[in-house]
Amino acid sequence: MAQQVRAVIAKAKGEPVSIETIEVPDPGPGEALVAVQACGVCHTDLHYREGAINDEFPFLLGHEAAGVVEAVGDDVTGVAPGDFVILNWRAVCGNCRACLRGRPWYCFATHNATQKMTLDGQELSPALGIGAFAEKTLVAAGQATKVNPEAQPEVAGLIGCGVMAGLGAAMNTGGVGRGDSVAVFGCGGVGDAAIEGSRLAGAHTIIAVDIDDTKLEWAREFGATHTINSTREDPVERIRELTGGHGVDVAIEAIGLPQTYEQAFYARDLAGVVVLVGVPNPEMRIELPMIEIFGRGGVLKSSWYGDCLPSRDFPMLIDLYLQGRLNLERFVSETISLEGVEEAFHAMERGEVLRSVVVV
Ligand SMILES: NC(=O)c1ccc[n+]([C@@H]2O[C@H](COP(=O)([O-])OP(=O)(O)OC[C@H]3O[C@@H](n4cnc5c(N)ncnc54)[C@H](O)[C@@H]3O)[C@@H](O)[C@H]2O)c1
Ligand SMILES: [Zn+2]
Ligand SMILES: [Zn+2]
Repeated sequence: MAQQVRAVIAKAKGEPVSIETIEVPDPGPGEALVAVQACGVCHTDLHYREGAINDEFPFLLGHEAAGVVEAVGDDVTGVAPGDFVILNWRAVCGNCRACLRGRPWYCFATHNATQKMTLDGQELSPALGIGAFAEKTLVAAGQATKVNPEAQPEVAGLIGCGVMAGLGAAMNTGGVGRGDSVAVFGCGGVGDAAIEGSRLAGAHTIIAVDIDDTKLEWAREFGATHTINSTREDPVERIRELTGGHGVDVAIEAIGLPQTYEQAFYARDLAGVVVLVGVPNPEMRIELPMIEIFGRGGVLKSSWYGDCLPSRDFPMLIDLYLQGRLNLERFVSETISLEGVEEAFHAMERGEVLRSVVVV
């Protein structure tokens, strides 16, 4: 029997979100019904409600979540009722060209639930195919990744989006290794996770760049060895000074702006790596001398979801957290209720938080 639950809905572009009672179907083949315990407020939820992703209102927001599986469809074997899971927005298909080539983190046909959740009979668009600012949500079973239940839900859920994107931008996409020098542009949740990932991977020098001194202080807590406020100093010059005149091995852009991408491009050493994990808007353009792209060598990469493989990375990262080797608690600036999501968007815009986390 379909269930009625409370959820946070964005009904129209730019309008404040509201709490509504939605209908969630029983899981069908390949699906899982998850009782959400916690869900972080990510910048992408705000992008949805501003109409910056697409026009498919009404949106059921929330996508950075942990919870407990309540029921599964007949054929589901990967998860079972009672499992503690983190939801992921790239459930790999196993059959597309990327998957068959052995690169499932690029999967071009990721899975979402087949049935729709509804509001007054109208189909909802769940953010990133999840929709977890809700007491319960319906996902594809592959979107629910089982992890050690000893982890607190409000901390575990963060692995489901921003923290994974940042950790993976450093560890997977950037390939940061022991002794490397790294610069991270933008020290929000994603950038700080890239700093933490660089530290975990054994980087020697980790330079944080932001325009906000408070963010730079927080960046030090995650492992930045040096900080640069780019409103006061030229970050490219300063990064060169800090790296013996060379530039960094890996430069990570975690904002999504042309000017900071350019800074990252020039701040790396010859044959270094640039990683773009910040999401630009469709109007943005960059102009670079082509000879510099050639002459500097190295690699220019983009990082979708930190090139993660949820089945491989989520349980491992939760284990590192439980062993005290990954500082996840520091990302949680505040815990709120479903009613607090609209205010959390404003706190995010004012730069006051790394993550507000809804506890359901
Ligand atoms: N690639 C992915 O899979 C993925 C996943 C999640 C989020 N993201 C993207 O990552 C980006 C960062 O997300 P977040 O949650 O950390 O956002 P955030 O708003 O919390 O952080 C952005 C940071 O950048 C700083 N900043 C802004 N302009 C700057 C400038 N000109 N120079 C230096 N610093 C500047 C801000 O002070 C802030 O600290 C967003 O674009 C988000 O959409 C990407
Ligand atoms: Zn695939
Ligand atoms: Zn997100």
